Amino acid sequence: FTVDWDASAAVKGGYDSFMRKEIHEQPTAVADTLRGRFDTRGQLMLDELRIPEAELRSIDKIIVIACGTAAYSGHVAKYAIEHWCRIPVEVELAHEFRYRDPIVGPRTLVVAISQSGETMDTLMAVRHAREQGARVLAICNTHGSTIPRESDAVLYTHAGPEVAVASTKAFLAQVAACYLLGLFLAQLRGTKFPDELRETVAALQALPDKIQRVIDTEPEIEEVARALADEESFLFLGRHVGYPVALEGALKLKEIAYIHAEGFAAGELKHGPIALIEEGQPVFVVVPSPRGRDSLHSKVVSNIQEVRARGARTLVIAEEGDDDVVPFADVIFRVPQTPVLLAPLVSVVPLQIFACALATAKGLDVDQPRNLAKSVTVE
Ligand code: G6P
Repeated sequence: FTVDWDASAAVKGGYDSFMRKEIHEQPTAVADTLRGRFDTRGQLMLDELRIPEAELRSIDKIIVIACGTAAYSGHVAKYAIEHWCRIPVEVELAHEFRYRDPIVGPRTLVVAISQSGETMDTLMAVRHAREQGARVLAICNTHGSTIPRESDAVLYTHAGPEVAVASTKAFLAQVAACYLLGLFLAQLRGTKFPDELRETVAALQALPDKIQRVIDTEPEIEEVARALADEESFLFLGRHVGYPVALEGALKLKEIAYIHAEGFAAGELKHGPIALIEEGQPVFVVVPSPRGRDSLHSKVVSNIQEVRARGARTLVIAEEGDDDVVPFADVIFRVPQTPVLLAPLVSVVPLQIFACALATAKGLDVDQPRNLAKSVTVE
């Protein structure tokens, strides 16, 4: 009696790839990252942030440094932290930060985001920031790794080990940790009314269920991905927090499906990228909530019209109940209603599923894409 047993299939828990498994683990990754960080009244308690409160109150600038997907979580953080805390936030690729002459001082908080905690570019930027006298906070998924050890404080994400080279659940956990940081600073500095803070905290805690609802639509997304598996190029448009989501959607396709993909801020369309639109060009558009700032939603809906009028096939990520997009969308991927600043946690999920399904349809190894490493420990 013999049993065919494959160790890697066993740890994949029945999924055909680690990436797909990790996409499915996202509700848990976000819930685990939020867990234990609020008291019973919904007040944030980030005890691990060992930077004295007086110092956190006197911060006059935040610089986020990171690479790859982690840097896109920083882009999302910028919108949220500036809005909630009224502190200017810069986001910079760690390797660029390191080699210019950044203005950093004792009142600058540098936030280094890294899944592995071992990315050499980010580590060198951390060292550089500390030499300039900045306080460095790491947001990291790997306990005891080098970046948290060399930082002043660490906020751990609890996504669990991520095996696939292309980051998914770690990204969502990083975004969630950035929200925690932003809400904590707002609470500390009194820049949000307690009621508003409580509402946002409640909305954040509702997100794991909403992420699950997007994952439940996987079969429909996979069908679209299979139908588009022979396309040679994809464009991604987004505005506001949808912009880093568009960049991340494009990165996922490049990384694992080896397809040319570019993300743009939708407002840039008329300044160049619209020239790329020709008959049949697939274009993803991340649409902000119609319940947010009106102009934002209607501007993005106009962008869908503009590309469609020039022959694009439009793949639209839109909230449930948003009927304005219907006349201009070839395909709609629905996401649950979510406050604008928190929307990336749901709107990025269809893009991850799409990339994973398309690369799988092409017969590629989605977990180990060519030329890439999970953790890049050289500069
Ligand atoms: C590599 C990986 C990316 C990752 C980036 C940053 O390039 O292939 O998926 O986003 O490094 O990694 P980190 O561990 O610092 O988040």
